[in-house]
Amino acid sequence: MSTDVQSTPCGLVIFGATGDLTRRKLVPALFNLATEGHLPKGFTLIGYGRSRMTDQQFHTHLLEGVKSFSRTQTVSDEDWKSFTKHTHYVSGGYGEREGFNRLQERMRFCDCRQHLYYLALPPSAAEDVLKVLPETRLPKGGSARIMMEKPFGSDLESARRLNDLLGEMFEEGQIYRVDHYLAKDTVRNLMVFRFGNAIFEPIWNRNYIDHVQITAAEEIGVEGRGGYYEEAGVVRDMLQNHVLQVLALCAMEPPLAGDNESVRDKKVEIFKSLAPLRRGDYIFGQYNGYRQEENVSPDSTTPTYAAMRLFIENWRWQGVPFYLRAGKALNRKVTEVIVRFKRAPLCTLDSQDACRRLESNRLVIRLQPDESIALRFNLQTPGHGDDVGAADLDFHYASLPTQPGEAYEKVILDAMQGRSSLFWRSDGIEAAWQAVTPLLEDRSVTPVQYPNYEPGSWGPNTADGLLRRVGRSWQNAE
Ligand code: BG6
Repeated sequence: MSTDVQSTPCGLVIFGATGDLTRRKLVPALFNLATEGHLPKGFTLIGYGRSRMTDQQFHTHLLEGVKSFSRTQTVSDEDWKSFTKHTHYVSGGYGEREGFNRLQERMRFCDCRQHLYYLALPPSAAEDVLKVLPETRLPKGGSARIMMEKPFGSDLESARRLNDLLGEMFEEGQIYRVDHYLAKDTVRNLMVFRFGNAIFEPIWNRNYIDHVQITAAEEIGVEGRGGYYEEAGVVRDMLQNHVLQVLALCAMEPPLAGDNESVRDKKVEIFKSLAPLRRGDYIFGQYNGYRQEENVSPDSTTPTYAAMRLFIENWRWQGVPFYLRAGKALNRKVTEVIVRFKRAPLCTLDSQDACRRLESNRLVIRLQPDESIALRFNLQTPGHGDDVGAADLDFHYASLPTQPGEAYEKVILDAMQGRSSLFWRSDGIEAAWQAVTPLLEDRSVTPVQYPNYEPGSWGPNTADGLLRRVGRSWQNAE
């Protein structure tokens, strides 16, 4: 990663500084960026949170996080000392003007012309900050940028409200709505794979593609985040953002140019051309054991799994179903895109048996883990008979000298450098909320219908029905 350290903001304020995201992701990412020399000179980090803490206590809290979650995990005393030398903590409420005044006092000691705020907060607390910010003397407008963690709002209406509040203080170019999936190397590769290789474009449409499956499965449950998850559920946590972004990258038209806006324009077109979801297009699930998690209601109807069938109403994709699913406590962690091509139109082999064994081609883009791309094709198997089988052209990132990196490092660095193509734009995020509104408004699930899948399975059996009724099936990672 090369960095133009001259133009980057050198003061970063994290709201939600004692939260899980800061400890697990943001500070490990910042520490790695700092030790590898990517942060600008004089970089200062100020954490703001509700807990009372001294700077020293804040450092100790962060160090545990870095040791447990950083990709490097080794922390030399010298590096840590130099990182924490300019790391401070201010306590206060998110809608509290006095707290913000204390923060402003602290920021005066950092010699920076540009500041970056990171709202690592749930949507309601983020809204509190945005309401009070205009009344404070904290830098805004030309001398600040703002990053907001997902979920951006909790529905279309709240997202619009947040966009309006942001718009009163910042230009769109200063607002960075985070979706860390977009910064994953393999997700970024979707554009290069599609538009950097001339061989795929002619077949990337309804004439050759039967359907597409996108899976974001996690083996873990809610892991102590029950309070957050009860409000979010899988739709707000994964589908409305990460999974729809992957869908957009798979389905978008080629951008007119490589700049931030051209790319985002094409993605927004996809969100806007999603056909409205109807009952029967989606199913929900909740894993057995979710209701026993900390801070989860014993008769919760929050879905921890969702699967759906979406259609994109445009010339390229008319009639091609996109099957999306995401869930917790599933068989394994895997995020992948499977493109199923249409079958060969005619079998000219002599054996009926061999004809039956011919598979439709499929392209499997494994975004994580074991990042890879495989293209399955049919072949004559060696021997005296007419046997056919399937084989894969198989590429694994592990064979490259450099391995996919930590997404939050890219997220932070891009926001610092003013590169916004890997962030949500206001119109995109509103269109994505619009698309999932039927899921959020569906009140048909009753407590007795849950739990409906076992941890370690591939989700509720009913999810198979979405595809089985048209002779298709989910392709579960092996
Ligand atoms: C986050 C969700 O955005 O993404 C989590 O809030 C989820 O619930 C996580 O576990 C998955 O991200 P990754 O990078 O581990 O696949």
